[in-house]
Amino acid sequence: MGEVELDLSKVDEIVKRYEGGREDVLAILQDVQAVYNYLPREAMTRVSELTGVPMTQIATLATFFHAFALNPRGKHIVTVCMGTACHVRGAPLVLEELERELGIKNGETTEDMMFTIETVNCVGACALGPLVIVDSKYHGNVKVSEVEKLLAQYKEEA
Ligand code: FES
Repeated sequence: MGEVELDLSKVDEIVKRYEGGREDVLAILQDVQAVYNYLPREAMTRVSELTGVPMTQIATLATFFHAFALNPRGKHIVTVCMGTACHVRGAPLVLEELERELGIKNGETTEDMMFTIETVNCVGACALGPLVIVDSKYHGNVKVSEVEKLLAQYKEEA
């Protein structure tokens, strides 16, 4: 994947919104991630410069919270629940089919930056298992045979 020039002015805007508050670093990082869909290193460095919070502290925060992604992610995040209930209802097969359809493994992003596959352990909607969440939309009782169609609707949206 080629390096992309990042527009860091968005980071400046976010930090300004919080009036450069050191205590707001977590919220700032969350907003930054919402812009880029992950936390680019350059963006973390910029947050550090603007808030005066050392980069080591920012990096620690970013790695400590699982909600932060440190690598580029696709436009659509496809999350497969691998919790016990979803697992016994066939989640591993659904995950396999997603990996096959997209040509990537769990944790990877397609080359066109459209999709990233991730897994999670139970989001509390076990009755819907196997559950696939695309971005913030829940798809319940997903069958292997439905995976292609499920992805197609997001491909069209591109
Ligand atoms: S195990 Fe998947 S939602 Fe609970």
